[in-house]
Amino acid sequence: MQEALLMNINAIGIDKEDYSVNATIYNLKWFEKNFKFKAKWKVYHQDSRYLINFLREKPNVVATEPYMGVFFKKLPSSRQAIKVIREVEPLYFSVLSQLKSLGVKTVVFIVPRFVTSDRKLLRLDFPRILKRTGFNIISPFEKIKMPVVYRKREGNIEREIYILNNTK
Ligand SMILES: C[S@@+](CC[C@H](N)C(=O)[O-])C[C@H]1O[C@@H](n2cnc3c(N)ncnc32)[C@H](O)[C@@H]1O
Repeated sequence: MQEALLMNINAIGIDKEDYSVNATIYNLKWFEKNFKFKAKWKVYHQDSRYLINFLREKPNVVATEPYMGVFFKKLPSSRQAIKVIREVEPLYFSVLSQLKSLGVKTVVFIVPRFVTSDRKLLRLDFPRILKRTGFNIISPFEKIKMPVVYRKREGNIEREIYILNNTK
């Protein structure tokens, strides 16, 4: 949100947890005291699976690092990873369906993938979610093919960063 505001783009945040909403508002209040920009910001304390019911604006672009399951202190077992995959798939499907209904054309979406303690790579069926919601993967930057895979040095999950569009 801060990066958008610095580019004078209005920014909206959504989170369902008190802690995250309060921390976001606290940070943004600090940010507006310390940086100059004219764009507006707003934070919804809501469940993004139902965003079409409460969002007053229609965003041009959405960027999200969604909930990616419980925090793993070490590499998860296959069973633990499959449990998270089953938990997050319906969340991602609901959010992308709502964004499709709202007519959002461009979405930056992060999807976790799991290297397990028995060295398997387990991934969501994200292609199926994209097919069902009508989003396509795009690679707008020459030489950078999506998804970009990212792993924090201390982290136990990998992230796939996608840029999606929906022209229907
Ligand atoms: C991995 S964190 C990322 C937070 C934020 N994007 C950031 O970069 O700091 C995922 C966030 O999703 C929120 N969340 C989980 N399920 C949600 C839902 N159904 N609707 C809205 N927020 C949700 C969690 O409270 C958490 O703050």
